Amino acid sequence: MTTSAEPSLAERFRVHFGHREHLYGVLLAEMADDWDAGGVTRELFDGWEDAEARQFPQLRLLAGLFRLVLRGEAPQLEPFYPCLGGDEDPSDAWAAVRPVLSAHVDELRASLDEAPQTNEPARTLALLVGVSEAVRRSGIRRVRLLEPGASAGLGLLVDRYRFVGDGWAHGPLDAPLVVDGCGARGLRPEEFTVVGRRGCDVAPVDATREEGATHLRSFVWPWMLDRHARLEGALAALATTPVVLDRARAADWVRERLAEPVEDDLLTVVWHSVTRLYWPLEESQALESAVEEARSRIPVAHVAMENPWTADRTRPDTSPGHLPVVELDGEVLAGCAHHGPPLELVHS
Ligand SMILES: C[S@@+](CC[C@H](N)C(=O)[O-])C[C@H]1O[C@@H](n2cnc3c(N)ncnc32)[C@H](O)[C@@H]1O
Repeated sequence: MTTSAEPSLAERFRVHFGHREHLYGVLLAEMADDWDAGGVTRELFDGWEDAEARQFPQLRLLAGLFRLVLRGEAPQLEPFYPCLGGDEDPSDAWAAVRPVLSAHVDELRASLDEAPQTNEPARTLALLVGVSEAVRRSGIRRVRLLEPGASAGLGLLVDRYRFVGDGWAHGPLDAPLVVDGCGARGLRPEEFTVVGRRGCDVAPVDATREEGATHLRSFVWPWMLDRHARLEGALAALATTPVVLDRARAADWVRERLAEPVEDDLLTVVWHSVTRLYWPLEESQALESAVEEARSRIPVAHVAMENPWTADRTRPDTSPGHLPVVELDGEVLAGCAHHGPPLELVHS
C-alpha cells in the first residue's frame, strides 16, 4: 500500500523525465494517465506499487517493450525507435504502443524482474589511460585483465578498439569500434599485449548470443544513436575475441584470481568501471585488501573508473554533478564523463 508520503507509480512516471520530448518521455506521461484511468498499466505493474524508487520499474518495462521491438514482434512500433531508423513523431506513439502492452502483459511483467544493465565500451578509454601509466611504471607490456562487474565483458577489449583524442590516436586502424572525442590532451598511450581477459559479474551477460546482445541494446535509450553505434562496434569485436565471464561477486573472485600462479613478466590489471557504487563498502575494502596482498607476489595494477569516494571514504559520492574519475592504485589520473569520453588528465 502506498502511503500518502510516497509518490504513486503514476506520479513517479510523470516526473521521471518531466517532458514529452522523446519517446520515453511521452510513454511515461501516457502510462501515468493510463494508470490513473485504470488501464493496462495497472495490470502491468500490479504488485510493484511499493517498489523502491531506485528499482525504476518503469525503465524495466520500457526495456521489455524495446526487446519486443528488437525481436521484430512489434514491427508497427519500429517507426518510433530512431536507432531502428524510425523518424515518427513520438507524440503519436501511445496509440500504437498501448495495444502492444495489452497483447504482451505476461512477458512485460516478467521484464520487471530484470534490473537495468548496460555495458559501455567507451569506458575502456579509462583503462587505456590506466594501463599506459601502469606499463610505464612497471616496464611490463604483457597484460592480463581481470574485470569485476564486467557485465558482458566489452570492457575487456581495450586493445580491439581505436581511440582518437586531442593530438593522439591509439588502436587498430581497422577496429570495429572507433571511440572519438576522447580529449585527454597530452596522453601518451603505451603499446601493450593483452594475454588474458577474464571478468565476473553477479549477472553476467553472454553477448555473443543474440539474446544477450538484445538484452544490452534494450537498456540503451532508443534515440541515443551514438551509444547504439558504439555498442554494435563492440559486439562485433567481441564476436572475434573470446572473454571468460564468471558469475561471481567482485571481491572473492578477484582474490581467487590473484591467488592463481601466473607467468613471470606479466602485469595483472584489476580493472572496473561504474560498478563499485553498487558494492557494499566491505566488498570494496576486501577487493583493495586482495590487491594489496597480491602486490608482494606478482606485479599488479588496480585501475578504476568510478565515482570518487566521499571525504570520509565510506561511500562513493553520487551527488548530482559528480563525475567519475580514473584511478591507478588509488591515485587520480583523470576526470571523465559517465560514459567515458571526453577525459581530462590531471597532469598532462
Ligand atoms: C552499471 S553496470 C557497469 C558495467 C560495466 N562495468 C560498464 O562500465 O559498462 C554495473 C555492473 O555491476 C554488476 N555488479 C553489481 N554489483 C556487483 C558485485 N557485487 N559484484 C560483481 N558485479 C556486480 C552489475 O550486475 C552490472 O553488470
